[in-house]
Amino acid sequence: MSFGVYVHIPYCLQRCTYCDFATYEQSQIMPPAQYFELLAQEIRQKASAFPKGHLSTVYFGGGTPSLVPAEHIVSLLGQLTSHGFTQDKSTEITIEINPATVDPKKMEQYLKAGVNRFSVGAQTFDDALLKSVHREHNSQQTLDTLHLLKSYDVNFSMDLLFALPGQTLQILERDLRKILEIAPPHISPYCLTVPEGHVLSAGRPMEEVQLQMFEMIREALMGAGFGRYEISNFAQPGFESKHNSLYWDDENYWGIGLSAHSYDRRRGWGTRYWNASAIGLYESQIKAGHGQQFTEPEQNLPQAQFERLEKHQSLTDFCHTSLRRDRGLLRSELQKKFGHPAEVLLSGVLAHQVETGLLRVLPDKSGWTLTEEGLLLSNQVFGALTFLAGEVG
Ligand SMILES: C[S@@+](CC[C@H](N)C(=O)[O-])C[C@H]1O[C@@H](n2cnc3c(N)ncnc32)[C@H](O)[C@@H]1O
Ligand code: SF4
Repeated sequence: MSFGVYVHIPYCLQRCTYCDFATYEQSQIMPPAQYFELLAQEIRQKASAFPKGHLSTVYFGGGTPSLVPAEHIVSLLGQLTSHGFTQDKSTEITIEINPATVDPKKMEQYLKAGVNRFSVGAQTFDDALLKSVHREHNSQQTLDTLHLLKSYDVNFSMDLLFALPGQTLQILERDLRKILEIAPPHISPYCLTVPEGHVLSAGRPMEEVQLQMFEMIREALMGAGFGRYEISNFAQPGFESKHNSLYWDDENYWGIGLSAHSYDRRRGWGTRYWNASAIGLYESQIKAGHGQQFTEPEQNLPQAQFERLEKHQSLTDFCHTSLRRDRGLLRSELQKKFGHPAEVLLSGVLAHQVETGLLRVLPDKSGWTLTEEGLLLSNQVFGALTFLAGEVG
């Protein structure tokens, strides 16, 4: 059993045009010291919600965690330890960093505190594109940050954003060449996702070019020895993110901070609960819980902030998360968690997806995975594998 902690740090230099995460331009939110005091209170309140012991992973995400003074990150890790959530060398401790927000002093503070994985929001090396989506950094600053990481010989990942308005296959090819020169052990390429009518939905590459982009990324990375262990995640062997894997492996996780989600699989079909995503509400909820211990979501959270999963929801999650991974949906795991009737129900749906060419049966018949076409059209497969109440016995 693995267990991980996610900590949300909602501070940014600027708001990127495409971003929908719960985060603020730094001048629009309380000073970091005040926010970390709320996190400290939340840790005190929820420390008994999960069994204490060794943490497999800690992930500081955002926002831009590298923007706040490193002392806060160091102190938070210490607070987890003092509440019985211990970390050692085997704990994967990741921090998301934006280019030009780290320097050697910060790096040394992180490393001393046990941070051992860095995720860099590079997005693209095309300065005009960076500017067009309101990114604060330029490609030279990204390179400087990556070289700083390399000089410390640390494990790091890069986020790449593609299918931006005005982006061509040639621009993407240049990005990929640059990335392969840098040779990070882990890369997360994300296709830009914006709602219909969004300012960035105009001028994007046509759908068929987007599919070519997906294919270009896959070929370049697989050709360079990366494995695609999940739809949007590629790693050199042994460098898969443990924290990401925990989400897809149905393990417990505790989310701390603004908008952070937690999952507890121990009761029934599992429980999800999440924090408010507006800072004012988050602050007032944490302050209202002062001196209290979190016991059950029903006691401590409004109805809109938790969900006791039913079997059909848990089966839906299981299908989606296992098919996102390269090892696929395994018959043995399906049977173990959901029993024979669910396996019968699912076999029919899966067989239909095999006929359409989006899924294939594993060679030893132990399960199913997405085909190349299925990876591109995964939303179609996930739609077919979304179950409603009453559909699953
Ligand atoms: C929450 S962001 C935090 C990382 C960091 N603040 C940054 O922007 O570099 C994590 C990643 O999500 C991706 N992302 C954010 N908004 C997205 C969108 N609308 N569509 C696709 N990917 C997105 C970006 O690649 C980003 O690096
Ligand atoms: S820096 Fe990252 S988290 Fe902040 S607004 Fe931009 S994409 Fe979102």
